Amino acid sequence: MAEHNPRSTQSRREFLTVAAGTCAAPLAYAATPTAAAADTSAAATGKGGADAIETVALPVNGQLHRLALDPRTTLLDALRDHIGLTGTKKGCDHGQCGACTVHIDGHRALSCMTFAVMAEGRAVTTIEGLAEPGGRLHPMQQAFVDHDAFQCGYCTPGQIMSAIACIKEGHASSEADIREFMSGNLCRCAAYPNIVAAIMQARAEMQEL
Ligand code: FES
Ligand code: FES
Repeated sequence: MAEHNPRSTQSRREFLTVAAGTCAAPLAYAATPTAAAADTSAAATGKGGADAIETVALPVNGQLHRLALDPRTTLLDALRDHIGLTGTKKGCDHGQCGACTVHIDGHRALSCMTFAVMAEGRAVTTIEGLAEPGGRLHPMQQAFVDHDAFQCGYCTPGQIMSAIACIKEGHASSEADIREFMSGNLCRCAAYPNIVAAIMQARAEMQEL
């Protein structure tokens, strides 16, 4: 379950302890950014300040961002507070709700439980990176609209990112399958029936892509 479900029972304290050790080792980078670099360094943005002690290169939605960060900065905070991509939501900030789900190298990940340095050089995709340049929505986004699969909408970006990954993982063969493999994404508005219907619709369209 741990592979497909972004929900984690690991406490934040345990995670910080383990990940701090992990970050001491050199990272292997699987992806190479292809788009033109966008200089969002501390010097350019005025962010980072006295705590900025490490430069991190983050390819996000095809654009490379160079950030001066405290190495303890989470990917979620780097996206929202340093790059300005606020589509990814902070719900619990403890790996429990799925609101912060993004893709890293095509796989879903909880950005609140991932240090930004752990994503360096890897392809990060957020909800802002799904629509086509002309504004045409991704089939999953369109399906959520078609099925009214949200109320307050706060969980929706994480739901959509997880839903896309769920289909790509081959875990959307039935409604029960979808409910199981989307169980790490909570919706306080209980829009679950419509979310499942949206995923069923998008599944067919995504398989044609
Ligand atoms: S799981 Fe990351 S904000 Fe809730
Ligand atoms: S639509 Fe409100 S939390 Fe899901």
